[in-house]
Amino acid sequence: MKKQQKNVWITGANSGIGKSITHQFAQNDVFCLATARREDALFRMKNENDAISKNIELLLLDISKTDEIFEITNKMINKYDVDCLINNAGISTFTPAEIDTIETVKSIININLIGAIALIKSLIPHFKKRGGGTIINILSVAATKVLTNSSIYSTSKAGLLAYTNVLREEVRKYNIKVINILPGATKTPIWSSEMLNKYAAKMMSPEDLASFIYSIYSLDSTLVPEEITIRPIGGDL
Ligand SMILES: NC(=O)c1ccc[n+]([C@@H]2O[C@H](COP(=O)([O-])OP(=O)(O)OC[C@H]3O[C@@H](n4cnc5c(N)ncnc54)[C@H](OP(=O)(O)O)[C@@H]3O)[C@@H](O)[C@H]2O)c1
Repeated sequence: MKKQQKNVWITGANSGIGKSITHQFAQNDVFCLATARREDALFRMKNENDAISKNIELLLLDISKTDEIFEITNKMINKYDVDCLINNAGISTFTPAEIDTIETVKSIININLIGAIALIKSLIPHFKKRGGGTIINILSVAATKVLTNSSIYSTSKAGLLAYTNVLREEVRKYNIKVINILPGATKTPIWSSEMLNKYAAKMMSPEDLASFIYSIYSLDSTLVPEEITIRPIGGDL
């Protein structure tokens, strides 16, 4: 790692939006700490492009295991001067609230909300110590818009939006930026093949989204975009 190199921690880095973010950042010579649960998919992501693989380190991390998060963060901040966390990992179901089991409810909240909060909490002391940092949360239009058959997913995203809106005010004084991205439909494996067959042409590409997120991260400016909603040009599906 070069001394002045930027170091970004990306969750859910082996698929969809997280994979595109990792490739985009690594191409721009940002060192990426790429985390997820499935090791084989992490390796495939890293090895897709030899030219950038030197800028990617893989780390297995299940963000629903919050104790491990604090342990792993301590190890990582001793090794890398992480300047940005991209909370991207997430899961969804597309079923009516009446059908969702309590196990499903707990699992989505544990990953999308509590896991993301745990990572944020584990890194704040480090950001304070280094004089600043950036937290980018990949939320969803579902955080603010009614999407039927996505009640728990929407709850998790709205919860993280509320949490980080409060957090932002508490950490401004430490030069910590909190940026919430609310994307609309994006062509990734989170969607069933049936939905992709029907709607892929109307969805945003994860590469376009990643490129936009990189442009926000790399702003060298006195301003901070705090909340951005991004939709396909044709609007929601
Ligand atoms: N695609 C869309 O239309 C869309 C729109 C708005 C927002 N989003 C958000 O964008 C983010 C990325 O989604 P995507 O569309 O790219 O979906 P995806 O291709 O299914 O990717 C989800 C990622 O999250 C990781 N993940 C899931 N559970 C995890 C856990 N317990 N611990 C660690 N990592 C975990 C997965 O890796 P492992 O399974 O290997 O852990 C995978 O890398 C999500 O937060 C999603 O809500 C997506």
